[in-house]
Amino acid sequence: MYLLIPAAGSGKRMGGDRNKLLLTLLDQPVLWWTLKAAIASDAIEWIGIICQPVDRPDFEEIVGILNSPKPVAFIQGGDTRQESVYNGLQALPDGAQRVLIHDGARCLATAELFDRCASVLQGCAGLIAAVPVKDTIKVVDSSNGGGDRPEVASTPDRSKLWAAQTPQGFEVATLKDAHARGIREKWTVTDDAALFEKCGLSVRIVEGEEANLKVTTPQDLAIAEFILRQRHPEI
Ligand code: C5P
Repeated sequence: MYLLIPAAGSGKRMGGDRNKLLLTLLDQPVLWWTLKAAIASDAIEWIGIICQPVDRPDFEEIVGILNSPKPVAFIQGGDTRQESVYNGLQALPDGAQRVLIHDGARCLATAELFDRCASVLQGCAGLIAAVPVKDTIKVVDSSNGGGDRPEVASTPDRSKLWAAQTPQGFEVATLKDAHARGIREKWTVTDDAALFEKCGLSVRIVEGEEANLKVTTPQDLAIAEFILRQRHPEI
């Protein structure tokens, strides 16, 4: 199984001036933890890290420290996650039939989750890891002058709501077509499954992991460190 890791963001919501994937958790960069799980997955055979040129030397150093027995390629990132994944798809080796895509910022995903997604992907064209939503979610209408206090428009039935995570997995040719159509039709999406959905293609759900958070804010970093400390009392 091929794995693409979008890692070309800037981490503005983290409030820092460097890529959040270079911040440390238990003395290792965020990306180190993500890669460690990907390398430990039996199913993953090839890893492509999508990154900005400015981060590449640091990312190369992380890969060197991990001494990956699997090939690791570096691919030029884009201005948005959508563009970054598009670039990643073009850079896949010839013959790649299926691909998992996993955000570098989800550094707590386990090797078992990669393996589970890879296994299910053998029997479908598109999937996402996801977990049922715990909060009651509100749709907000900010069009009617609410300012700082926008109005609640509706409350979707929570039993139908799942929070999308990564890994997400797809047939490569179908996802490439969906990305190309997304460019033609100027669709802007925040995950690859949304392109599949807009094309009318089926996306299956694989049970994700409660701890598989996306490190976005300083609070997330503190929570991630707490979880890693539980997992690795020896560190
Ligand atoms: O910003 P956010 O955390 O939602 O980004 C999700 C993932 O997409 C991160 O791992 C980030 O590095 C990556 N990304 C990217 N290229 C961009 C923006 C984000 O690869 N231009």
